[in-house]
Amino acid sequence: MAHIIVVGNEKGGAGKSTVSMHVATALVRMGHKVSGLDLDLRQRTFGRYVENRIAFLKQAELELPSPALHELPVIEDGALRPGENMYDHRLSAAVAAMEPDSDFILIDCPGSHTRLSQVAHSLADTLITPLNDSFIDFDLLAHTDASGDKITGPSVYSEMVWNARQLRAQAGLAPIDWVVVRNRLGAQRMVNKEKMERAVANLAKRIGFRVAPGFNERVIFRELFPRGLTLLDLKDIGVKQLNISNVAARQELRDLIKALKLPGVNADF
Ligand SMILES: Nc1ncnc2c1ncn2[C@@H]1O[C@H](COP(=O)(O)OP(=O)(O)OP(=O)(O)O)[C@@H](O)[C@H]1O
Ligand SMILES: [Mg+2]
Repeated sequence: MAHIIVVGNEKGGAGKSTVSMHVATALVRMGHKVSGLDLDLRQRTFGRYVENRIAFLKQAELELPSPALHELPVIEDGALRPGENMYDHRLSAAVAAMEPDSDFILIDCPGSHTRLSQVAHSLADTLITPLNDSFIDFDLLAHTDASGDKITGPSVYSEMVWNARQLRAQAGLAPIDWVVVRNRLGAQRMVNKEKMERAVANLAKRIGFRVAPGFNERVIFRELFPRGLTLLDLKDIGVKQLNISNVAARQELRDLIKALKLPGVNADF
């Protein structure tokens, strides 16, 4: 059975597609078979990221491991069972097509609430939620009081994950391993950073997720997309000397892969 990794957060711009590409590519570079599916049917950032990679490698005459990108199949109306949702059917069909040839299936979700995203969450063996370092983003996970220190209740996204967990439990599936990854951490704004750290740690205990080491705000993450590259590829395309920031970013990625504790993945790479 393939291990399904879903990258989700209803908040837009949290870093889902960036994290999807980096995790998928890290795993494929480690020798695992990785299939990818982009459920953001409108923006298709993850899909385009993988396509950019294939095009760049071809043009540069390079061979680097790449995730196998899949699409949601188009289904004829007649193929649906009475009452069956079209999106549920298409997602199941896509997963069934990826399963036989994948150790990992990575599913990138849109930054909004959709039926596809909701169903994908209930398929997740591992759920990765990137979270920007802002209480505006935190507000989709939980509400806090004015100080930011006291959690007053869950919010829309964590309630959706809760529902996905319930569905899995009813179906007798293993619980979702939910990992929150803080993203775009700044060197400044120490007070907010520490407040967020406390709030995230607090919430982790309350609603049951793990917190993985995150990514700092780094310009390199915004530059790699047109060539479909990740931090791990730079040496292979002939970059002789990585600058300190890029070395640190690569280490952050390795630390994330370790923290995910994925089955069969060697933590030291
Ligand atoms: N650690 C980082 N440092 C700097 N820029 C980053 C970092 N992570 C992501 N970004 C940038 O932030 C923006 C949003 O990232 P991304 O598209 O991965 O988020 P997303 O959650 O997939 O967004 P959406 O909800 O729209 O799908 C992009 O411009 C990306 O390059
Ligand atoms: Mg995205």
